[in-house]
Amino acid sequence: MSRTVLVLNGPNLNMLGTREPTTYGHETLADISSLCRQTADELELNLEFRQTNHEGELIDWIHQARTRCAAIVINPAAWTHTSVAIRDALVASELPVIEVHISNVHAREKFRHHSFVSAIAVAVLCGFGVQGYRMALQHVGHLLNAKG
Ligand code: DQA
Repeated sequence: MSRTVLVLNGPNLNMLGTREPTTYGHETLADISSLCRQTADELELNLEFRQTNHEGELIDWIHQARTRCAAIVINPAAWTHTSVAIRDALVASELPVIEVHISNVHAREKFRHHSFVSAIAVAVLCGFGVQGYRMALQHVGHLLNAKG
């Protein structure tokens, strides 16, 4: 069975480190990628880590994951609050989805309180900073080990 986990990052997350550091911290996307790589190695998971600013590209990656991957960890960033298309693609993937946000979106503007993804996710992590990615991968490890 596949132990490949696709970690997807949406728009503007390539700007982490310089983007609103009081909200998102000083870690860069490269730092998050390293954290995920280290965690995946510990858990004997194969990791694919990607970021895009183009919604269609993200949707194509989700479609391609269906037959290759065991789970999707996704920080959809602003598309969380806007995109039915990403939610539908995630459902079509038939994979367990874990939603991650660096910040606590519920403590922020009202438009960030609704997520199109949360209702179809097996778990949602928000407000744990970049550690949320590590926790999400740990949960994928538990899910895959439970499946055998
Ligand atoms: C975010 C929260 C979103 O509301 C925002 O649009 C982002 C990042 C987070 O990781 O906290 O770009 O997903």
